[in-house]
Amino acid sequence: MMKTAGAITLIFPMMMISLLLIAITASGAVDSDVVLDSNGDPVRAFAPYYIEVRTSQGRRANISEFGIDENHALSCPQRVVAYSDELMGIAKPVIFLFSTHFVRVSAELSIKFAWTTECDEPGVWKVADSIDGSSWATKEIFLSGTDSSSDSTFIIKKSENGSYKLAFGSSEKPQDFGLDEIRYGVWRLILSNNSGFTVSFVPA
Ligand SMILES: *[C@@H]1O[C@H](CO)[C@@H](O)[C@H](O)[C@H]1NC(C)=O
Ligand SMILES: *[C@@H]1O[C@H](CO)[C@@H](O)[C@H](O)[C@H]1NC(C)=O
Ligand SMILES: *[C@@H]1O[C@H](CO)[C@@H](O)[C@H](O)[C@H]1NC(C)=O
Repeated sequence: MMKTAGAITLIFPMMMISLLLIAITASGAVDSDVVLDSNGDPVRAFAPYYIEVRTSQGRRANISEFGIDENHALSCPQRVVAYSDELMGIAKPVIFLFSTHFVRVSAELSIKFAWTTECDEPGVWKVADSIDGSSWATKEIFLSGTDSSSDSTFIIKKSENGSYKLAFGSSEKPQDFGLDEIRYGVWRLILSNNSGFTVSFVPA
């Protein structure tokens, strides 16, 4: 009897210690992988965030949608842009369509504007060939995507100083985005291998 009790009193603290070690290791691994918002909190799937852009020249801009033609009329489909001037347009929050509670670095996800769009499009970001106005062939982001389809698959990469970069495609073959000014204070997001901007996520 004494022997058994002695063994139990020894085994029990050892079990507690190893459980504690497992818990610490697990949470450590999770933390290093999770994308953090501007407050340092984990970015949650299906919660609204503003995406703030910072160019390599230090200029700031906010992600939103844009669909206005030369005559200032609504033009569909709309594209994803960054407004560097609040007079040109206001920030519009997005949600990350992701399978677990917290969004992870380099994990494939889809991005959707949190509110319905003016063109009544799904709002899911989709990379496709440019349709109009641009003098050179390129791919940019429209709002007519379908959750999880290959042209609506993005990843969030770690960048310097706690900021992040958006990339298109799988984590094996990610392609960066660049900015292309289409009118004063309005930059469209184009596929480009020399991305000049980082992003941060501000809870909406
Ligand atoms: C971006 O949005 C934030 C929050 O609405 C605002 O304070 C800031 O001035 C905006 N910046 C630009 C460049 O539009
Ligand atoms: C990160 O911070 C360092 C030091 O403040 C700065 O020199 C560097 O340009 C920053 N990098 C980016 C991508 O902002
Ligand atoms: C970026 O680089 C990859 C790999 O070299 C290439 O497959 C892709 O076409 C490039 N994309 C653009 C937009 O230049």
